[in-house]
Amino acid sequence: MQRNSNHTTICKIEKVIDETPTVRTLVFSDEVMCNVLPGQFAMVWIPGINELPMSVMISLDDGKAAFTVRKHGAASTGLFNIKEGEQIGIRGPYGNSFDIRSGKILLVGGGTGLVPMMRLLTFVKPTDDVTLLIGAKTKDEVFFEDLAKKLLKNNPHKIIVSTDDGTYGEKGFVTNMVKKLVEEAYFDGVYTCGPEIMMYRTVQIAHSKKLFVQASLERMMKCGIGICGSCCMGEDLVCKDGTIFDGDHLLANKEFGHFYRNKAGILEKY
Ligand SMILES: Cc1cc2nc3c(=O)[nH]c(=O)nc-3n(C[C@H](O)[C@H](O)[C@H](O)COP(=O)(O)OP(=O)(O)OC[C@H]3O[C@@H](n4cnc5c(N)ncnc54)[C@H](O)[C@@H]3O)c2cc1C
Ligand code: FES
Repeated sequence: MQRNSNHTTICKIEKVIDETPTVRTLVFSDEVMCNVLPGQFAMVWIPGINELPMSVMISLDDGKAAFTVRKHGAASTGLFNIKEGEQIGIRGPYGNSFDIRSGKILLVGGGTGLVPMMRLLTFVKPTDDVTLLIGAKTKDEVFFEDLAKKLLKNNPHKIIVSTDDGTYGEKGFVTNMVKKLVEEAYFDGVYTCGPEIMMYRTVQIAHSKKLFVQASLERMMKCGIGICGSCCMGEDLVCKDGTIFDGDHLLANKEFGHFYRNKAGILEKY
């Protein structure tokens, strides 16, 4: 019998991987979540605390999926502190997925925005020439570089890390590297997920070169299924119409890169 994506399924955490001092990956077995499309998310119930939207992370083990969480407020810290053997609830998958173009593609990820980028890497064809840009504030916050190397071992590829403070890889904002790369070469597709200002600049740069570009947006989500309206960005409901939008659509939206809604639904400036 097919599972109802709006019903919460209880899953046991089987493995916890420390990625950085503040980021952990929680691995669990689930036949639905291990097959989601790149960019799709789940609503994750942290018992006794709250429910949060999380991109579905890959696992290298068959039949397993994962979430990669950065500890921040009460809910994400509750998820971060879940131990092996403990349980969480999951509903979904929700949202659309990246439209992956063949040829030469550029992926730009920052922080836990790298999660959908890792899943996207499992969908590229062996002939695709892939450049992955990993942006982080500092060396201690760089993760998934080794995983990306494994995933791309059969592709022509480049993995470039840039840290804002120059403690690892290239020094400066990852968007400086985006600018340099798109000035040097044509890309058939550019995909980005991470802090909104990073995505905004990436979309602007790619769009100015007339490249096909998509970004995966984050907004406050409560229902995750298009009912409550808490995730609206202009006319769009990010949970249902997105989370992935084409660059030209985003640049026409006055909120993208400038405003978000807080927990009370009030528009605030970034
Ligand atoms: C589609 C989607 C995928 C995400 N994937 C990941 C992921 O893979 N890993 C990860 O660590 N985080 C992810 N997030 C962010 C995550 O859902 C939380 O926003 C974040 O963990 C902070 O939550 P908190 O309650 O601990 O923090 P708080 O301190 O309570 O809130 C800090 C800020 O987090 C945001 N936030 C809080 N609750 C929500 C919510 N229900 N929906 C959206 N934003 C919220 C708000 O901007 C808020 O101001 C994703 C968000 C979205 C929308
Ligand atoms: S989270 Fe409720 S409409 Fe999107």
